Amino acid sequence: MTSSRFMPTYTALELTNFLSYKSARIEFDDLVALIGPNASGKSNLVAALKLLRDIPTYGLPLAIARRGGYDQLRHRSQGRPNDPAIRLEFRYGPGETGFYELALASLKGKRYRVKRERAFLPIIDNHPDSFVSDGATVHSVEWDSETDGPPRSEERRVPVAPGQSALSTGGFPAHLIQLALSGLQTVEIHPARVGELQEPSSTAEFDPVGANTASVFDALDTAARAKIVEQLAAIVPGIVRIEPRVYADKRTLLFVQRTAHGNREFLAKQMSDGTLRAFGILLALAQPETPGLIVIEEPEVAIHLGALQSLIEILQAESRTMQVVLTTHSADIVDELPVESLRVVWSDTEQSRVANVSEHTRRILRDGLITPGALLRADALDPES
Ligand SMILES: Nc1ncnc2c1ncn2[C@@H]1O[C@H](COP(=O)(O)OP(=O)(O)O)[C@@H](O)[C@H]1O
Ligand SMILES: [Mg+2]
Repeated sequence: MTSSRFMPTYTALELTNFLSYKSARIEFDDLVALIGPNASGKSNLVAALKLLRDIPTYGLPLAIARRGGYDQLRHRSQGRPNDPAIRLEFRYGPGETGFYELALASLKGKRYRVKRERAFLPIIDNHPDSFVSDGATVHSVEWDSETDGPPRSEERRVPVAPGQSALSTGGFPAHLIQLALSGLQTVEIHPARVGELQEPSSTAEFDPVGANTASVFDALDTAARAKIVEQLAAIVPGIVRIEPRVYADKRTLLFVQRTAHGNREFLAKQMSDGTLRAFGILLALAQPETPGLIVIEEPEVAIHLGALQSLIEILQAESRTMQVVLTTHSADIVDELPVESLRVVWSDTEQSRVANVSEHTRRILRDGLITPGALLRADALDPES
């Protein structure tokens, strides 16, 4: 099932003074994998995407609070915090690149104000929708292509409440940016949350930790369910069926697994962490409202080596319908991916950096003398400088 929503292709993310990043840019593709040592900045990059994702859902103040508050978001080096900014770039079809940009500044008492917020949406050729805000007034230009004859523009100026995003003031460009941001999704499956008896939940949204997997699975059509069973069986041999179960007012899933003694039924909480984690990831990929870009942190955790290859093949196949961003420590995953999809994250004198693999190393890999995974194990996948 494909999404009916009007989603862009996300092309790049730029961070300025955000968490461990002083100044960084990462380019997205159908699938990219962030690789780098512990505490190098992989999750901080993901945190920027989560912050953007939370703005349309919670509003800017709460979105910032959910990431630990403004003071925590600012980059610190030598004890000197700086004003953070995030810029997301995207494209609608083959056209020009659009962007959304949010820059904050400090007020007294660890509070913030919106310093600048801008959006540029080149949807109609030569007639981009746009807005720009100084945190107090939003000035937007919206093009109306519905009219006969040439498109006409409408200019609006509306006030925005202190600390709020211009996205909260409405209008066509704000609406499109909200859609674009809500298409960014992060998945961090906690097996215990998938296994426990779950509260019944709205299935409109997949819970990032997997706390509503039973309801989401229940709402899928037969074909989508069968596809998940088939994919999971490639990772966990013997899975033949998955069924929703209701206990009093709680939901869970029943897994039917073929064993030497015939088919046996297991409640979700009896399944292994690796199975529940893999199942959660597969279900996230199968959401009826397909995200535009899905971030999966460390898909290798709790999944054994033989199964990992199946999971990577599934992620690669799904990356044709939604963009996939992975973080990984796994040399086995890295070996399955083209070197062009790797993004090296490292820490360099109090700041995180991110770049593609160096041209020199790519040439060595093209010669086939060594694999990217072997270079990762040797800590020798060096970034472009
Ligand atoms: N506001 C900040 N300013 C500077 N560094 C930060 C800030 N917040 C977190 N960090 C640093 O980021 C690092 C953690 O990065 P993280 O993205 O979680 O790493 P990983 O690559 O393991 O996912 C920590 O070493 C921490 O010191
Ligand atoms: Mg991390």
